[in-house]
Amino acid sequence: MNDHTDHNHPNGKLIIAIDGPAGAGKSTIASRLARKLGYVNLESGAMYRALALKAIDQDASFDDEATLVRLAQASRIQLEPTLGGNRTLLDGRDVSSRIRERDVTEAASRVSVHPGVRAWMVARQQEMGGGGGVVMEGRDIGTKVFPDADLKIFLDADPVVREQRRMEQQKIKGAVAASVAADLRERDQRDRTRAASPLVAAEDAVVIDSTGMAEDEVLARVEELAAERLRRQIGS
Ligand code: DC
Repeated sequence: MNDHTDHNHPNGKLIIAIDGPAGAGKSTIASRLARKLGYVNLESGAMYRALALKAIDQDASFDDEATLVRLAQASRIQLEPTLGGNRTLLDGRDVSSRIRERDVTEAASRVSVHPGVRAWMVARQQEMGGGGGVVMEGRDIGTKVFPDADLKIFLDADPVVREQRRMEQQKIKGAVAASVAADLRERDQRDRTRAASPLVAAEDAVVIDSTGMAEDEVLARVEELAAERLRRQIGS
């Protein structure tokens, strides 16, 4: 077993993986949980988004795997946890807001289908989180990045509820809302059906369906699970 999958992290801090589809509430729960535990919250999706932005800026095709891998290798993608949330830096430039825009969102979903891109991302993510004391969120954290994570959560919700939450979050209404919802469905479908690391709950993940749950309820449940894992680790 190598360092990043070692259950007994020298600092006694857990690796917590939170996976699930867009709009299930991963980001909010991961950042609130990390704050409570004094852990770092790493948002792996921001890394795919940063690479997608680089591809847009360089006019690279989202279907050209070899070029995308070369772009990734030549990029400096940094996730910088701050008190106000995560900052994402691409080659030293703060791209935190830019990567949330619609063109990047769409491109991120397309660049993330390539196994070569994923292998590069997974290796970086293992380096970043391997020391423990981390809540990492994404689509493949419990299955590929940290298959031996101390706690794996798969956070899901009804698609209609997820779409509504996204609209509220982004304050979108009317006709734009309908097309954004259609985009979300399409990305969802792509994430779940791609050949390389499709979005799927790890066998040993705790599945939480947040459809009828308030955010505080979900957080309480996740905190309870983390506390139980910490007790188990101290006791072992
Ligand atoms: O979580 P997000 O919406 O910021 O992710 C952006 C895209 O990146 C999304 O379409 C799926 C992809 N992604 C992935 O394939 N694996 C991850 N661990 C995180 C995100």
